[in-house]
Amino acid sequence: MSLQGKHILLGVSGGIAAYKSAELIRLLVKHGAQVRVVMTHSATQFITPLTLATLSQHPVGLDGEDLDEPMRHIDWARWADVVLLAPATAQRIALMAHGFASDLLSTLCLAAECPVVVCPAMNQAMWSNPATQANVARLEGYGVAIIGPEAGEQACGEIGAGRLLTLTEIVVQLTAHLNSAEQCLAGKKVMITAGPTIEAIDPVRFLSNHSSGKMGYALAQAAYSAGAEVTLVSGPVAMSAPAGVTLVSVHSAEQMFNAVQASVQQMDIFIGCAAVADYRPESVQSQKIKKSPEVMTIQLTPTIDILASLNDLPTKPFAVGFAAETQNIKDYALGKLEAKKCDLIMANHVGIEGTGFGSDDNAVTVLGHDLQIELPKQSKTMLARAMISIIADTYKQRKL
Ligand code: PMT
Repeated sequence: MSLQGKHILLGVSGGIAAYKSAELIRLLVKHGAQVRVVMTHSATQFITPLTLATLSQHPVGLDGEDLDEPMRHIDWARWADVVLLAPATAQRIALMAHGFASDLLSTLCLAAECPVVVCPAMNQAMWSNPATQANVARLEGYGVAIIGPEAGEQACGEIGAGRLLTLTEIVVQLTAHLNSAEQCLAGKKVMITAGPTIEAIDPVRFLSNHSSGKMGYALAQAAYSAGAEVTLVSGPVAMSAPAGVTLVSVHSAEQMFNAVQASVQQMDIFIGCAAVADYRPESVQSQKIKKSPEVMTIQLTPTIDILASLNDLPTKPFAVGFAAETQNIKDYALGKLEAKKCDLIMANHVGIEGTGFGSDDNAVTVLGHDLQIELPKQSKTMLARAMISIIADTYKQRKL
């Protein structure tokens, strides 16, 4: 993950999470960024400008202190590759949503032509208030990225959504957003498998699993948004392919294997997110099997491993696998990374409520040969953006 050389204009507004901006600056600098800070008057009640100036190694922008530099809001907006508001209070979001130019930070946000990223932090009732939600939706409509908030115990003692996202997650999502904005996969061809496969037993029955396709389709959307030409090879799901993505619909593991083999040689990156059946009935009955009181045995035979089969290609794309595990997650995932000779593997703890198969959220550990990044529970859309960003960075490093 790299923010190397990036100019980050950090806007700090006045909520209790403002104290975390000190650590956030350290983290951004550690990832190679140059940081300049603008604080609102109320933010200075929570943390001193001197602390943030020392950590960022730049003077801090404060209201009313720019008289000797009247064009500071323009100059600093032009300097920035991204404006990051963390924490952003309900007041700050409202000001931005309605185009106010009432202080240094709001004028700077209006003058910014670079990406603007907002990390909200506030009381849970303030966050869920329809006025705040309408302001957030308005900002998103203007192209502002909203990262977080997360749910949990709040400084006021209440529990709910409104906490500033963890700082490492802010860095991951910020990097993903910049990578996407910079079209980090422009000119690349990416193939993604998604959804389940279904293996026929007879004309009306089959073996399958609970994959909904949400994770794979979110990856397809994120890769497309990052500039890639995307081919999505999907088992049967109740979703439409993202606009601009080429969909190849299949049913069985064998069909998925054939669809992958048909064009994988032209791909730069392959992502195996599908929950491919590991076994299929040895023979498919041509007529519906009649019910009987006897115990029935179905002989199963292994399917072809689509991901592993890439190793037989004369030129293999950069290969990303998933490992859906219910125990010994990291060890089993590392085993699959080695056995299937992947470049990266997404270790996915499944079988727990709220993540994995079928859910809207997921969490993974990205494992590579010299890499381990935790991506905590979040929407599959956000997770996919972070995964694509990490995949693009690792792919580029491998090619250097
Ligand atoms: O679709 P959702 O409801 O959104 O759920 C997402 C998900 C849980 C399905 C997804 O995040 C996930 O974990 N996908 C991998 C599921 C899986 O089959 O994992 P596995 O550990 O059994 O397989 C390891 C890897 O080999 C995977 O990349 C798989 O696509 C691939 N494989 C497996 C068997 C096979 N015959 N061919 C393969 O290519």
